[in-house]
Amino acid sequence: MFQTVAKTLVALTISTALLVSPAFAEPISIKFSHVVAVDTPKGQAAEFFKKRAEELTAGKVKVEVYPNSQLYKDKEEMEALQLGAVQMLAPSLAKFGPLGAKEFEVFDLPFIFNNDADLHKVTQGPAGQALLAKLEPKGIKGLAYWDNGFKSFSANTPIKTPEDLKGKKLRIQSSKVLEEQMRALKALPQVMPFSEVYQALQTGVVDGTENPISNFYTQKMHEVQKYLTITDHGYLGYAVIVNKKFWEELPADIRGQLETAMKEATDYANSIAKDKNMKDLEAVKASGKTEVTVLTDAERAAFKAALVPVHEKMASRIGKETIDTVYQAVGFTK
Ligand code: LMR
Repeated sequence: MFQTVAKTLVALTISTALLVSPAFAEPISIKFSHVVAVDTPKGQAAEFFKKRAEELTAGKVKVEVYPNSQLYKDKEEMEALQLGAVQMLAPSLAKFGPLGAKEFEVFDLPFIFNNDADLHKVTQGPAGQALLAKLEPKGIKGLAYWDNGFKSFSANTPIKTPEDLKGKKLRIQSSKVLEEQMRALKALPQVMPFSEVYQALQTGVVDGTENPISNFYTQKMHEVQKYLTITDHGYLGYAVIVNKKFWEELPADIRGQLETAMKEATDYANSIAKDKNMKDLEAVKASGKTEVTVLTDAERAAFKAALVPVHEKMASRIGKETIDTVYQAVGFTK
């Protein structure tokens, strides 16, 4: 009898130890939701982060990546993050307006960045950090910026001049700056989640759109758009964000390891984005389904002249101070 009780006690002690010992505790789960394909700069960087986060925390953290709007579409994923249903996202910078972080729409101003070097002066400098800090009162912590690239216009009719987009229904992300940009071209902007764009183009709900080539190609938009014009008229990239409470409550050593993984993933994202877009451009050309046009300098200047007035129009929405900070960082001239 005594022996049986003793054995039971030993067994109970061991199982209790197993339950409470951190070595055997459940791994911390990070659900990372995003809307693009795996084979894109963001998709690849998310996978890279998962791998390094799991390695560096020796399995104490498990990252589940849900690509392609599998879990949530654009608007829902922001809500899910705030509610804690997912812990990490990397939304396009053009999708922070509906959260009330209108300053992020500075990234959408047409022709504000001449090239990646300009962009990085903001995303890797104090101006970018100051913008991320604005998310904190919303229960969100910004960890990093990940590159995608510069956008091009597509449609089923040729695009050589701003007038070619007049009257066209063009899909945009949920940014008032992008809405104004399309109005400046006398086009009709239609806000729509990314996951619905292919079908909307296919069925003629919209006539055209704008995106970096990696998104255009991986969503197979080249199957439903006859013309793509390399305009590089604006930028599309990401802020990697987490639920602030979740992040701050992580054990300090684990948070540190995740910060390292994020830093590595950021370097990785920013090292592959340009190549990926270039490769996908070649793939679009090779498909023979979309005619690709590269504008001459004079043709591109006509787009710039039509679109730069958007900066002035949107100054009160974005905040003049934010615009001036970015202008100064990149040395913007009209
Ligand atoms: C879009 O909606 O066009 C983009 O934000 C998709 C993305 O995340 O790159």
